[in-house]
Order: sequence, then C-alpha cells, then structure tokens
Amino acid sequence: MELFKGKTVIVSGGAEGIGFAVAQAVGREGMNVVIADISPDTLATAEATLNEQGIPVLALTADARSEADWDRVADAALERFGAIHALMNNAGVGGGGSSGPIEDHSAEDWRWTIDVNLMGVVFGMKSVVPHIKAAGGGWIVNVASMAGMNGFPYGGAYNATKLAVAGLSEGWSMELAPFDIHVAALCPGFVRTRIYLSDRVRPSDYDDSHRELIVSDDDLDPETMATGLSNEVKNGIDPDLLAARVIESLQTKDTYIFTHPSFRDGVRERYAMIDQCFESAATSPLVGGVISSGSIPDLFK
Ligand SMILES: NC(=O)c1ccc[n+]([C@@H]2O[C@H](COP(=O)([O-])OP(=O)(O)OC[C@H]3O[C@@H](n4cnc5c(N)ncnc54)[C@H](O)[C@@H]3O)[C@@H](O)[C@H]2O)c1
Repeated sequence: MELFKGKTVIVSGGAEGIGFAVAQAVGREGMNVVIADISPDTLATAEATLNEQGIPVLALTADARSEADWDRVADAALERFGAIHALMNNAGVGGGGSSGPIEDHSAEDWRWTIDVNLMGVVFGMKSVVPHIKAAGGGWIVNVASMAGMNGFPYGGAYNATKLAVAGLSEGWSMELAPFDIHVAALCPGFVRTRIYLSDRVRPSDYDDSHRELIVSDDDLDPETMATGLSNEVKNGIDPDLLAARVIESLQTKDTYIFTHPSFRDGVRERYAMIDQCFESAATSPLVGGVISSGSIPDLFK
C-alpha cells in the first residue's frame, strides 16, 4: 500500500518541533498535510514554510484536549482533501510541571499532562480512526517517548502518560491490523525542541499558583531537575533526523519506532527484571501451578 504519495495525514501539535518536522518530511514525500495546534502564531509560520515548499497544507488552530476540536479538524481535512489516510498523535507537553517528586507534583499538573498527552491521543484515535478505516487503511504514529519504555524516578505524569500511549498503541496495533491500519508508538530519546518550555502553551484553565511557570530559558533555575532535562533536550538529535527515521520505520512497519539505540540496554534490563519476577511467581508454592486459559490479547480476539 502507498504510504505517502497523494495521501492525507493529520498531525496534532504540528506547528513546531517533532510534529512540524514529520509534517514537512511526509509532505516532501507527497502527502497532503493537516497541521493542528493550540498555538496560532507558530502555526501560521509553519503553514507559510510548508506552502513555500509547495506542500498542500491545511493549518487549523485546535486543542488536542478537546474531542469537539478533533471532530472539527477531521471534518475540515475531509472537506479539503477528500479522505484521511494517516494520523500522527504528537501534541504533548513535558518539562516544568509534568514530572517531579511525588509530594510536589500537583494535581493541576497531573491533569494538564494527562489531558494533553493521554486524552489528546485517545480523542485523536476516536475522531480519525473511522475515517482511516473508510479510506481502506493507512498508518498511525502515536508519540510516546523512551519514558514509555521504563518507569523512572520522579517520572510522574509524563512517565504515566507515555507508558499509557505505548501500551495503548500496542493494543491498537493488534485491533486495527485487520483494517490494514499500521499503528506505531514513536519512542524518541532527547530531541532538540522547545518541549522543556511547554508552560508557554499551558491553558489558563489550570491553576498555576503553586509554581513558577517556565516559558523561556531565563526562567530556568540551574538547581532544578527541569534544567537538567532541558540541557539534555538542547543536546538532543535534530527533529529532521527523527522525521527521516519515522519515514524509514513506517516502511518496515515497526510497532515501536526507536531513534536512540543506546537506550536498548536499559530496556533489556527492564525485561530481564520482569522475567525474573515471573520466575519468582513460577517457583512460588502459592501460585506456581496457576494456569490461565490464554494470553491477555488472545482473550480479546
Ligand atoms: N523533544 C523530546 O526530547 C521528546 C522526547 C520524547 C518524546 N517527545 C514527545 O514528542 C511530542 C512533541 O514534542 P516536541 O518535543 O516537538 O515539543 P514542542 O514543544 O516543540 O512541540 C509541541 C507542539 O504541541 C503543541 N501543543 C501543546 N499543547 C497542545 C494542545 N493542548 N493542543 C494542541 N497542540 C498542543 C505546541 O504548541 C507545540 O507546537 C510530545 O508528545 C513529546 O512528549 C519529545
């Protein structure tokens, strides 16, 4: 099946960073590109840049947290391009308040991070999957993270949402394979974007009186974890390299798209740890003999 030429993709959070880089890359491969973003200013710049390159583009201001916005974006995409074949659920927030020590991590920051990083993906799937089915198949990339491969200390809401997106994508990949829809979870390590300044797009409906927002580099306190993470991001890979890697991996139909193979050992250690925990259960006098009727995916076939 043709993946790119003449097909249409919706990219949430497509105004800058990873979303824009992938929109541009698949546009250069011949796709019609719908970029949706909460930030009208960067969206206008992105639209102009894609237009200059002759890429057919529809740019829409939309909030990934809103199911109604997703439906509006899908309808507008259909009206402009006639069909939808692909989706990149990319809008996401990190840095600042999206992680931290359990006791300091506020309910408002949990809610914001879950609303964008998790519910944004869920609503994107709900709105767009029926159209990809109607088009006869295509592909979906849900943006998780290496934070979706392991639990880690102070991971908080960011870690929770990315683990959720990775796990959901694995399930959706099985669920949608019969419809010729390939679903991948993109799990990058650090990529050079403004994610560490996500507070710049934090909607005012979340109380922020409990902490200083980080909307520019001047707001970074050198002592904090947020600053350490921002330095890693600033030294991360170029978003255009990541975009080329996404195109490469879609062609090989990888369920997980990795960009930083150096993280492989950490994931291997996790699997070894999990396997060891199963060994503990298998040799337990209490549950060692328990046999289930099938694997969890088998139960839902
Ligand atoms: N940069 C990294 O190191 C890295 C690593 C792993 C995963 N990721 C993931 O990649 C995705 C993209 O992040 P990025 O690094 O390009 O960050 P970014 O901040 O450069 O871009 C995020 C885009 O999402 C938009 N956005 C934010 N909230 C939104 C909302 N409610 N509705 C619609 N759009 C919204 C922003 O305006 C921005 O254009 C995120 O899901 C992030 O978690 C990033």
